[in-house]
Amino acid sequence: MTPNNPSQLPQDQQRIQFNTRLGAIATTVGSAIGLGNIWRFPYEAGTHGGGAFMLCYIGFIIILGIPVVVAEFMMGRGTGLNVFGAFRKLAPGTSWHYLGYVGILASLMILSFYSVVAGWTVEYCWQSAIGALDFETADEYHAHFDEFCSGNWRPLLWTWIFLALNFVILIRGVSKGIEKMSNILMPILFLLLIVFCINSLTLDKASEGLKFLFHPDFSQLSSKVMLGAMGQAFFSLSLGLGCMMTYASYFNDETRLVKSAFLTGGLDTMVAILAGVIIFPAVFTFGMSPAAGPTLVFEVLPSIFHSLPFGAAWSTLFFFLLFLASLTSTLSMSEISIKFFIQEKGMTRRGATCLNGAIALVFGSLCALSFGDLGSFTICGMTIFNLFDYVSSNILLPFGGMMIAIFVGWKMDRGLIRNELSNYGQHQVRGMGFLMFCIRFIAPVGILLVFLNSIGII
Ligand code: PHE
Repeated sequence: MTPNNPSQLPQDQQRIQFNTRLGAIATTVGSAIGLGNIWRFPYEAGTHGGGAFMLCYIGFIIILGIPVVVAEFMMGRGTGLNVFGAFRKLAPGTSWHYLGYVGILASLMILSFYSVVAGWTVEYCWQSAIGALDFETADEYHAHFDEFCSGNWRPLLWTWIFLALNFVILIRGVSKGIEKMSNILMPILFLLLIVFCINSLTLDKASEGLKFLFHPDFSQLSSKVMLGAMGQAFFSLSLGLGCMMTYASYFNDETRLVKSAFLTGGLDTMVAILAGVIIFPAVFTFGMSPAAGPTLVFEVLPSIFHSLPFGAAWSTLFFFLLFLASLTSTLSMSEISIKFFIQEKGMTRRGATCLNGAIALVFGSLCALSFGDLGSFTICGMTIFNLFDYVSSNILLPFGGMMIAIFVGWKMDRGLIRNELSNYGQHQVRGMGFLMFCIRFIAPVGILLVFLNSIGII
């Protein structure tokens, strides 16, 4: 096992910590908030009937998401290790650490398709800046995006550029690169979302959009909707693959885990709802289909900006911030495997970052081509892009989350749990019994039920 005594470790493997408490929170929230909220949530809600999806999503965030975030935090800070090493340190001599591979696989799959969408944001930022997104009808916006996506080279190029940027920041290490960026950018994104939200509420068919999002039509509730909402909750909270665990390994002893989990869950959900409130009024006002799928946001947002004074400037700024929000998320998902390569395989940070980047480059390219030349190549009826998205979000993340909840609930040392929750006795922990009940019973049973339901067993 990798020694956890800092003095015995080479420099790249020493325990690093975030500089400030605010930095720790901003980075965690930065990981959670990203394309998952602004791109994935609206299209998932749109294809899964709106209100019913939203209701399940919020329910899953509260009863499954937040308890599993706390569980990952406890494992991460308690060990200071990567996802593989944390399981091995806490349950030596068992097979639990193999779960680390699930997390690493999921993180690489997500990084691959996510970088493609992040590349789209860069293209749209650029196109807004040069005034190329100036159309009148919804069909024109649709055709424009279609043409870009199916063009092979431009999506590929932006994916590579995005991955290169991700690489450059990662190689500088955790607190210098990631923490500084998150502190500055997240508040700006938040403000901008509020401005756009207010604007969307003034659109003609705003009430129809809000009804679609907030008025659950229970006849739409199906196992597919529930699985989708559960996957979205895990994806949006960066949960079930050891991302929160890896970041928590950089927390210091001052960080309050339960409070941080609620804050992360709360802010993340708020941003998703804001995104929904921006998108759906526009979808109905401009006569688009809410079920357009992954391309939804890239067709709807430009039409919103078009209707605003100084639309091109708003659009450039928004896509720029969306790109940055994606970057803070890809940094966190890359960190999972980088930390694993460093601590378990003895690689240097430089080597680990290169390996992570190389894998993402190959699979990211395949995902980018899924909208072009590889569009007809399908596995189980899904393109590589859709397959990576579906398998990671709907299967691997909830499965990982379920196992983490079982591990922390039933296997992890109670004394360590108490210490982690109370910061080694620095403050009282209220509600520990309820939290542990959620981790031991509600989260694993809830996830299992949704799984069984989705494969038709119940
Ligand atoms: N939570 C991120 C988002 O919403 C995506 C993510 C998933 C990040 C898994 C890290 C790990 O965009």
